Amino acid sequence: MELKKYLQYSKFDSGLASVLTAIAQGSILIQKKISRLSLEGLEGSTGTKNIQNEDVKKLDILANDIFLEKFQESKNVAMVGCEELEKPQIFNNSISKFLINMDPLDGSSNIDVGVNIGSIFGIWNENIDHSLNENSLLKPGKEQIASAYVVYGSCTLMVIASEKGVQCFTLDTQSGSYILSKDNINVPEKCKYYSVNYGNFENFSSNLQNSLINLQNIYSLRYIGSLVADFHRNLLEGGVFLYPKDTKNPNGKLRLMYEANPLSFIIKKAGGIGTNGTKNILNINPTTLHERVPLIIGNSDVIENILV
Ligand code: AHG
Ligand code: MN
Ligand code: MN
Repeated sequence: MELKKYLQYSKFDSGLASVLTAIAQGSILIQKKISRLSLEGLEGSTGTKNIQNEDVKKLDILANDIFLEKFQESKNVAMVGCEELEKPQIFNNSISKFLINMDPLDGSSNIDVGVNIGSIFGIWNENIDHSLNENSLLKPGKEQIASAYVVYGSCTLMVIASEKGVQCFTLDTQSGSYILSKDNINVPEKCKYYSVNYGNFENFSSNLQNSLINLQNIYSLRYIGSLVADFHRNLLEGGVFLYPKDTKNPNGKLRLMYEANPLSFIIKKAGGIGTNGTKNILNINPTTLHERVPLIIGNSDVIENILV
């Protein structure tokens, strides 16, 4: 079943359906650009740094601009927080219902080498009084009404989580539309993989080092360097992803609002959990738009035995 039909058939709120359709439309444009990256001069950096002082790639900005345009066209998005913009983007033309925090291009270090990358979105209802200010986007992850990600790789997949569960849609590049390929996704009971950057091992706490030694004795290591791709494999096959704090990065690397929250919402709907090592990510009250948070996400029974 085609995405648009699925959203109607499953009785998604029409405003939310228009936001999810905007994500789908934007991702189809981005997939086309990725498939022709070096042919269109889209490899490499812009030569600028973002608010996180990270190197901004050309595709980071292109993806950012494409999704902002699609959200504006949907007329159902009031405000967007995003990794590439220090301040949120406010839309004045919207009949507005939703607030979005997004990572328009996740896994930027993999863009130029043909490895899976993605886009991540958290979707919240706007304030009852329609007020919009600097802090409107800073809502806890448990208040999300939906979240989604796209993985661009051997095939392009869009995963959506809402009160109606978790579904995966596969982009049919011939027809140019997403087709339902998996419904009612639940993380398998049996964990298969664990994902961590061992380059940081010496800076982990001794508790965490011991936990990783236990994991390596039971599970296979898989680490792509694109959160959304590692997360997607673990969601379908069973696994835990760790980007923990360490002595150099006391808050880890990943961002709460547009990486940890959307994926923790999805994993919760799929029967797993996302924590910062001690607390459920969805219960964290945010203080700033770009705040970082340690992230351990996947099979609950494995995560409860990981000490940080
Ligand atoms: P982004 O490209 O949006 O900045 O995210 C990159 C993140 C995440 O995708 C990935 O899991 C992590 O960075 C990899 O970090 P390391 O290279 O330090 O392992
Ligand atoms: Mn990212
Ligand atoms: Mn990014």
